[in-house]
Amino acid sequence: MAMWLRLKITLLLLLSTNVLESYGFTQRSWSESADLANKTVALLTLDEKIGMVTGVGQFNSRCVGNIKPPNRSLSITTSSNTVLNVSIPPLCFQDGPAGLRLVKNVTGFPTGINAASTFSRRLMRARGEALGEEFRGKGVNVFLGPAMDIMRNPKAGRGWESFGPDPYLNGEGAYETIIGVQSAGVMACAKHYLANNQEHWRYGLSANVDERTLREMYWWPFMRSIDANVSSVMCAYNRLNGTSSCHNEDLIGLLSEGGFQGFVVSDWGATHDSATDNALAGLDMEQPGDFILIGGGVYGNGLKNAVNDGSVPVEVLNGMVAKILTPWFVLGQDQGFPAINFDAQHADGSGNLNLNVNVRTDAHTELTREIGRASAVLLKNNRTTTDGTPTGTTIRGLPVSQERIKSIAIIGRDAKLPNLDCNPPLTAGLNQCNDGTMSIGWGSGSNSLDFIVPPNTAIRDFVGNSATITESLSNDRPAGPNAAIGKDLAIVFANAMSGELGFYFVVDGNQGDRNDLDLWFKGGSLIEAVAAVNNNTVVVIHSVGPVPMPWSNHPNITAIIYAGAPGEQTGPSLVDVIWGAYNPRGRLPFTIADSEDDYGTTIVYNSITGFPTIDYTERLLLDYRYMDSKNIAPRFEFGFGLSYTKFEYSSLSISSSGSSQVVSFTIKNTGGLDGTEIPQLYLGFPGSAGEPEKVLRGFDEVDLKAGESKQVSLTISEREMSVWDTPSHSWVRPQGTFEVFVGASVKDIRLTGSF
Ligand SMILES: *[C@@H]1O[C@H](CO)[C@@H](O)[C@H](O)[C@H]1NC(C)=O
Ligand SMILES: *[C@@H]1O[C@H](CO)[C@@H](O)[C@H](O)[C@H]1NC(C)=O
Ligand SMILES: *[C@@H]1O[C@H](CO)[C@@H](O)[C@H](O)[C@H]1NC(C)=O
Ligand SMILES: *[C@@H]1O[C@H](CO)[C@@H](O)[C@H](O)[C@H]1NC(C)=O
Ligand SMILES: *[C@@H]1O[C@H](CO)[C@@H](O)[C@H](O)[C@H]1NC(C)=O
Ligand SMILES: *[C@@H]1O[C@H](CO)[C@@H](O)[C@H](O)[C@H]1NC(C)=O
Ligand SMILES: *[C@@H]1O[C@H](CO)[C@@H](O)[C@H](O)[C@H]1NC(C)=O
Ligand SMILES: *[C@@H]1O[C@H](CO)[C@@H](O)[C@H](O)[C@H]1NC(C)=O
Ligand SMILES: *[C@@H]1O[C@H](CO)[C@@H](O)[C@H](O)[C@H]1NC(C)=O
Repeated sequence: MAMWLRLKITLLLLLSTNVLESYGFTQRSWSESADLANKTVALLTLDEKIGMVTGVGQFNSRCVGNIKPPNRSLSITTSSNTVLNVSIPPLCFQDGPAGLRLVKNVTGFPTGINAASTFSRRLMRARGEALGEEFRGKGVNVFLGPAMDIMRNPKAGRGWESFGPDPYLNGEGAYETIIGVQSAGVMACAKHYLANNQEHWRYGLSANVDERTLREMYWWPFMRSIDANVSSVMCAYNRLNGTSSCHNEDLIGLLSEGGFQGFVVSDWGATHDSATDNALAGLDMEQPGDFILIGGGVYGNGLKNAVNDGSVPVEVLNGMVAKILTPWFVLGQDQGFPAINFDAQHADGSGNLNLNVNVRTDAHTELTREIGRASAVLLKNNRTTTDGTPTGTTIRGLPVSQERIKSIAIIGRDAKLPNLDCNPPLTAGLNQCNDGTMSIGWGSGSNSLDFIVPPNTAIRDFVGNSATITESLSNDRPAGPNAAIGKDLAIVFANAMSGELGFYFVVDGNQGDRNDLDLWFKGGSLIEAVAAVNNNTVVVIHSVGPVPMPWSNHPNITAIIYAGAPGEQTGPSLVDVIWGAYNPRGRLPFTIADSEDDYGTTIVYNSITGFPTIDYTERLLLDYRYMDSKNIAPRFEFGFGLSYTKFEYSSLSISSSGSSQVVSFTIKNTGGLDGTEIPQLYLGFPGSAGEPEKVLRGFDEVDLKAGESKQVSLTISEREMSVWDTPSHSWVRPQGTFEVFVGASVKDIRLTGSF
């Protein structure tokens, strides 16, 4: 035990210098806000209404998108007969899901996929709150996130922005992020609606999805977004069933049927055909307002003409404006919301106004580090100790003993500081020139890496004089293995990246989507070459999604950490895990299999006939659901992750509570260390339901001191026990016996029961 006590880590405990401690607004109910919105709309001229629903143009925007508000104060009388003077700002829309894009002095938060890896609603929400705080501070009215695109294929370019291939986990990630962001009074924007699942051909491919698959897989996280009272939804570039998402009346109609009361905004340039098509289908706002790439420029005068000639009734336009204003009133953005204080047209900061509004806080830095370490997944650990007992000092494997390990090699380009000044100004800050550690993918979902602490720096800072460090910060051989020879420990870093399609974003031959699942820059060969010469090789993978790990059973590889895309505190969060100040508890939000065939879907790269049609024939079978159906034994399964301690499960009981089922059980920490277990609940539907063998329906994080036991209860709601019944177009709970599987991963089931 002494070893653990000696490990110390200096966490930033400085008091936050946050200027946003008290937001000073009161939320309103949706009905009161809809009333205020209607009253506001009644005072607007036609031109003012058109200005409210049309972006001001890509190069005229201070943010990635703005609207042109009425240039006057509007006095309305509230239901309680008080006068409210309303000045609508030029509504600022800004990416993105992991922090402010194209803005200096902001935090580079962990990605969505890492938030998913924590399996922690608490951390997902805290991340949302911190994002909301920074977006509010910079005067951003609408946070363009969270992304909740299901990782239909593991190579999907933007998969890392969302929460993985499982709809339930995506839904929980979306829900908590939205509640968090909106608690700061910032509107969230659920995206991308719908079936935006690959980058190649995304501007026009048609995803053909049957109704049940649509509801149970792709709609699910949007349904959870509506549960969270999301303010807006972004319609996607692609077509669904042949019709562009942004003028797909059936698709947009599902939102209001589902209780959505906010507005639908187009993805940037995702509008096609006429203003009438889009407005009548339910598109409330077009961004950025002019033509970009392949679409846009539909509203503005086009919409004004359509209203004037009667093809779009003015009531429809009134409704569009009201839906935009309703969440604005709900979140009290009329009450002292900060003005925009950055300029996205000058990503280098040269055009920034009011730079002293510093929204980056020590608390955000610490949260980023905490999510980084809580999302690091320990996949393998062959620890040996001096006396052969679990409490002895580590000789090989993790956690590393600072007293025992005296020489360390740090190997791989993924350990070093990346290029931060990449082709400014047009594409600055989008991280497509990464030549160092991967902490986020590239494109509009990327964020500022100005404050990144790469692994090599963090390790050097931590180790100090306690060991000698040799660096080989490339993937070159024999340099890497040469550095590893004779060292007590070799830490090899390797990565795989992906990002958003864009005409300037072909990175090492990858157009957004990865070309294959492999590690980049021959990372796998580097790992094998180092393991061949050092019998205490620890592998760290930074990747946007699964990568095959054919070397995982190599006897000299004593530990593997899958660190994902953890954001700017990547180095310090790894130090916390590797040297044991933090007991790992992260879990895989997808399965790591040996080949792409094991996933059952493909990316359509080539299409000689232009925009392809992609039939979602795999239906409900993605990732672990597909592998279960084909009896594929994956290398590391969904939900898997090791700890430095051990947990035992016992005493399962299942009871009904109203229309819900409550599943209770006990977890005991039987190892010698405090730790956190992530119990997961998978449901086996009655055979007649036609569901996958096991479907995730619950998880929790349970902190347990060494020796401690706790009872855990997970509730399954009626909807979570239901399937989408296409004939009746509704959720129906199937008749028959449900099986309950509780365990530490989808394959490590410890308790079973039924109801
Ligand atoms: C959503 O809004 C409704 C009506 O304003 C409110 O009753 C409900 O509590 C909100 N839900 C959440 C999760 O905030
Ligand atoms: C706002 O106006 C719309 C018609 O445009 C109406 O359907 C709705 O009920 C009104 N809401 C409130 C709260 O007055
Ligand atoms: C708003 O109106 C004022 C005059 O009342 C004018 O000076 C200003 O330029 C206008 N702003 C915009 C953005 O049109
Ligand atoms: C609202 O604006 C009017 C003039 O436009 C002004 O007379 C009145 O005092 C304002 N009321 C409040 C509450 O600010
Ligand atoms: C898409 O087409 C399929 C098959 O034709 C149909 O079942 C489904 O309801 C359609 N989805 C939408 C949103 O129109
Ligand atoms: C960052 O914020 C500080 C004030 O906290 C300011 O002095 C500095 O200019 C800002 N830097 C940039 C690049 O915006
Ligand atoms: C190494 O650890 C893995 C799990 O992390 C385990 O399956 C394997 O048996 C261990 N091998 C040895 C030699 O201890
Ligand atoms: C690992 O290699 C070191 C020399 O670098 C050697 O002293 C040690 O015995 C080896 N351990 C094992 C388990 O092979
Ligand atoms: C493991 O490392 C040792 C050096 O410590 C080396 O001699 C041995 O060949 C390696 N084993 C494998 C299987 O590569």
